[in-house]
Amino acid sequence: MFLPALPPNFDWGFATAAYQIEGAVAEDGRGPCIWDTFCHLEPSRTKNAHADVACDHYHRYEEDFDLLQQYGAKSYRFSISWSRIIPLGGRSDPVNEAGLAFYDRLIDALLARGITPWATLFHWDLPQGLNDRYGGWLDVGEVQADFEHYARVCYARFGDRVKNWITINEPWIVSVFGYGTGVNAPGRSTTNPDATHGDSAREPWTVGKALILSHARAVTAYNREFRATQQGTIGISLNGDYYEPWDADDDRDGAAAERRMQFHIGWFANPIFLKTDYPACMREQLGERLPKFTDAEMNVLRSADTDFYGMNYYTSQFARHIEGEPLDTDFKGNVDELPHDKSGRSVGPVSGVAWLRSTPDLFRKHLTRVFRLYGKPIYITENGCPCPGEDQMTREESVQDTFRQKYFNDHLDAICLSIAEDGSDIRGYLAWSLMDNLEWSDGYGPRFGVTFTDYDSLERTPKQSALMLQSMIAARKKPVLQHQEEQVQHRL
Ligand code: NOJ
Repeated sequence: MFLPALPPNFDWGFATAAYQIEGAVAEDGRGPCIWDTFCHLEPSRTKNAHADVACDHYHRYEEDFDLLQQYGAKSYRFSISWSRIIPLGGRSDPVNEAGLAFYDRLIDALLARGITPWATLFHWDLPQGLNDRYGGWLDVGEVQADFEHYARVCYARFGDRVKNWITINEPWIVSVFGYGTGVNAPGRSTTNPDATHGDSAREPWTVGKALILSHARAVTAYNREFRATQQGTIGISLNGDYYEPWDADDDRDGAAAERRMQFHIGWFANPIFLKTDYPACMREQLGERLPKFTDAEMNVLRSADTDFYGMNYYTSQFARHIEGEPLDTDFKGNVDELPHDKSGRSVGPVSGVAWLRSTPDLFRKHLTRVFRLYGKPIYITENGCPCPGEDQMTREESVQDTFRQKYFNDHLDAICLSIAEDGSDIRGYLAWSLMDNLEWSDGYGPRFGVTFTDYDSLERTPKQSALMLQSMIAARKKPVLQHQEEQVQHRL
């Protein structure tokens, strides 16, 4: 039977992001974002996919929230499109009432169904206007002031109803994929033959700093001006795999695994949660290419108290040290990443995308490591997978998603073990994703949804896993009485 380790008030539901589902890119005054531009480049860098219509959620959110309700979800994580709210993006640019009104309706539609909104302020869709004006995230000073302003507009308008804020989604991906490998918008890179501009040795580190300070300023604005009246909580969603040494008997691989995680997570988590400089191994490898925090910037970091660690977790890998000096375009800490260890043992069964193997045991280690290092309550703000072969399946085949059901089950067990055996404070689980949607530069092939999206008719069909998550969670919740007794004992 299941380990009853989830607290009675454990939060759960599903997640999405604006650009991946909304469509309606030119409607009601929305300004373009860098993903609109990137998806329309020729030759295509997104498998000819764009999000002009996407899932048409902009017009179908009522229907989608009926599904959420049917699935029993307590919470729903969505993102706000910056360029719907401020079409040009900047702190002196006009605010778009029609954009605000859309999210008013969306939030009210959730609340009317008893579903708690979780709003992400930035899920990769930077206003194109800011990219054109000063290079977007490359201008550390400008962009943090604009982001803080945008955040404040959102708190002021939605904060009476939104009590759970996520500032930025996966700053690592924004920095490395957007400015290092160039596979994501704005697609800058000096290692990617498709890219025309960039500096992969420097730009990711500059962008990372801009994202960290933007987060800190948005948090400080919330804490100083809105928290007392709105009583909400605020965090950031960090991605990052767990790494085991490729050769468990080789200390250099042990060090490589730890270094890899510092380059993935410590890069952001040290300044944000520990309020310190970047990890020492990053300073050592990157030298003057890793920007410094001035005293004034350190004060910004120190004054920003972030409530929770939002964890986006999908998979884990093995890390093998590389002999010799790292390339100046390296962003991994001079390690190779492998799906097999030295003996050929696989890290886990492969899903419907090559980069994602199901690795629940390492998820438990990851949760426990992150809780011990950063000491914050954890909400899993994304977890999920496409089933093997699902990109080629018919709707009838896709809804029978046994691989996804097992993936959810196994990852929920890992959460229970991390809580019950390792003492981690884990408070919620938001599965990625409510529906199949645009998987960024991989286009519409990979299907991460618990709802099948027919991209021709835009019809939605629940997959089996969507209807099962509620009972999977309920089976793992402590009966309220037992939990209360434990609390009393704890207090005694
Ligand atoms: C993380 C991103 O936040 C989300 O947008 C993406 O679709 C999923 N990972 C799956 O790759």
